[in-house]
Amino acid sequence: MPGFELFGDAERKEVNDVLENGILMRYGFEGIRNGHWKSKELEAQLQQTFKTNHAQLVSSGTAAVTIALASAGVGAGDEVIMPTFTFVASFEAIMALGAIPILVDIDDTLTLDPVAVEKAITPKTKAVMVVQMCGSMGDMDALQSICKAYNVLLIEDACQAIGGTYKGKPLGSIGDLGCFSFDFVKTITCGEGGAVITNNETYYLNADHYSDHGHDHIGNDRGAETHPFLGFNYRISELHAAVGLAQIKRLPEFLNLQNKNYTILRDALATIPDVTFRTVPEGGEESYAFLNFFLPTLEIAQNVSKSFKENGIDGCFHYYDNNWHYIRKWDHLKDLKSLFPLASEIKTGLEYLKTKEFPQSDHYIGRNISCLIKLSWTEEDIKARASKMVSIVTSIL
Ligand SMILES: Cc1ncc(COP(=O)(O)O)c(C=O)c1O
Repeated sequence: MPGFELFGDAERKEVNDVLENGILMRYGFEGIRNGHWKSKELEAQLQQTFKTNHAQLVSSGTAAVTIALASAGVGAGDEVIMPTFTFVASFEAIMALGAIPILVDIDDTLTLDPVAVEKAITPKTKAVMVVQMCGSMGDMDALQSICKAYNVLLIEDACQAIGGTYKGKPLGSIGDLGCFSFDFVKTITCGEGGAVITNNETYYLNADHYSDHGHDHIGNDRGAETHPFLGFNYRISELHAAVGLAQIKRLPEFLNLQNKNYTILRDALATIPDVTFRTVPEGGEESYAFLNFFLPTLEIAQNVSKSFKENGIDGCFHYYDNNWHYIRKWDHLKDLKSLFPLASEIKTGLEYLKTKEFPQSDHYIGRNISCLIKLSWTEEDIKARASKMVSIVTSIL
């Protein structure tokens, strides 16, 4: 994902502004910051870009997911439904609050299968977390109606799908709360950073306070502020926000390039009859951060992945064999390998993972290849890459 690829003068200018001003913290120092509020400015831009009433900038995407859950009151013993295909941050955030991750199958959208979600709901379910993986999305209408019917929260992790839309709405803005990551490999970057967006004022105020030790941010004397509840430190620095401020202004440019490069690769692969593509729900528009395609069998996908690597086609992932994004390699979660004793609710709540299998998820992830789309490719580069990919896939099929 490309933010860092096109890092340049605009980002340097915003960062230099902060360095020259000398106030690296986002809160306080009103008298000497000369009107520089990069985090606040970026929050205003996020609200506008993602069409929500509120945005809270934080230190990472993992922090954003944790804060979104905490802000809506998810905690000890609550069950949160999440997909088998995501990044480890999903269960890390849930478990950090003492809640229990309930993993369910994905479908050919490469995120939550609504049928599997509905089956997994119990009286303990507090939230469903849809993870909009690799630039696309789940069936949001179906997921929203399940959440409504069972009165559970819908949390949207749109860390990997910045700029994608569903029925005209930006991904991240559809659930009760949405989360973004601006780490170094996301569509726009702060270096490290993240954000929670929501239309719910209470959740927003909770996120604002919780991410800064519970500070209520009322008045201009930080030491005199009150703490209505316990919090933590998930603050972003002004230096990081400055980078993001330059990047968000370039989002339309990044998305255009992504779409153009994705389309060339997709058109080339679509000429191969045995190649199929992930389903994008009706009304959805991908961010085009990744091109995801399916091959007929696991073995073919493994061979294609190997041959891509051997022939210099970088940035193409076979997640079935990846340590970070798919349940199959999460032994540290299944075996509860923790540095410190875990809450008993989590230990009991995760016992199901020792024996549970996910053949439906294996069916999709085993046959999937996910290629990230770079912005720095020239048209010549992409065409050469596309024809190399086509000849590798064709030779293996
Ligand atoms: C889907 C998803 N959620 C959450 C995160 C966590 O973001 P961060 O690296 O900013 O903590 C990532 C990062 O890769 C991600 O891909």
